[in-house]
Amino acid sequence: MMRGAEARHPLWDLPVRLSHWVITLCLPAAWWTAEEGLLELHAWIGYTVLTLVLARLAWGVCGSPQARFGDFLRGPRAILAYLREGRRETPGHNPLGGWSAMALWALLLAQAVSGLYNSDGILFDGPLYAAVDGDLADKLGAFHETAFNVLLAFVGLHVATIAVYQWGRKQQLLVPMIRGSAPGREGTGPAAPLARWLFLLDLVALALLAILAAAPEPVSSWW
Ligand code: HEM
Ligand code: HEM
Repeated sequence: MMRGAEARHPLWDLPVRLSHWVITLCLPAAWWTAEEGLLELHAWIGYTVLTLVLARLAWGVCGSPQARFGDFLRGPRAILAYLREGRRETPGHNPLGGWSAMALWALLLAQAVSGLYNSDGILFDGPLYAAVDGDLADKLGAFHETAFNVLLAFVGLHVATIAVYQWGRKQQLLVPMIRGSAPGREGTGPAAPLARWLFLLDLVALALLAILAAAPEPVSSWW
């Protein structure tokens, strides 16, 4: 690094990148474990997604500059200005990208939470399966199946959009999501401390485990 050069800040800090790529790996793993009937493992993959998304949402309030909702959630006027003139005020998500990230997080949450109420009807009950009546649990189970297809469609759209920006419009999207930044795409301020994110992650994981541990035990239908 050049002495005296201005400090460079990452566009996407480590928590943003790590959460993104771990969630990306979790989706095929969740599908595969469900197909193979490895539902204990499937559930742990789901808890991982749930924890990472909730911690990412908390990071939207107290994370690094471009990770914050205030940086990328914009109203209709900014969205229109972006669509008409390509105008954007942050090197982070553009006004459409910000809302599509919110949609992806909402879908991931819906998927993981509905899984908690799901059951294969034989060997595995989600930890909240017994907390609601059978009818509702069945509906949430069906929702869990449908939500995955909707999630896949959105992820397909997400990856296609990234490809258009990256190769069609020659904008650097992939490198910053891997290495943190790229020439011309840097953050506007110092990254928030990693310890803060680790603390949030622990807090979310512990809260989730406490809620699940307090859930009523399933009553076995075998005796
Ligand atoms: C498979 C599941 C995937 C999900 C659920 C997902 C979701 C997301 C979300 C929520 C964001 C916003 C990140 C944040 O602010 O924390 C994001 C950004 C991004 N994703 Fe994905 N993603 C997936 C797969 C992929 C894949 C396969 C690629 C590679 C082609 C990719 C490339 C990117 C890039 C480059 C960004 C940054 C966009 C920007 O610069 O504004 N994603 N993704
Ligand atoms: C984002 C996280 C998750 C994803 C992407 C996911 C995805 C899937 C998929 C694709 C299936 C197969 C659907 C079908 O064809 O029936 C499935 C089934 C299932 N999931 Fe998840 N899931 C997630 C989280 C969870 C969680 C947290 C739990 C419970 C703790 C759970 C419990 C189940 C159960 C019990 C089934 C089996 C249903 C059956 O065999 O009829 N899932 N999940």
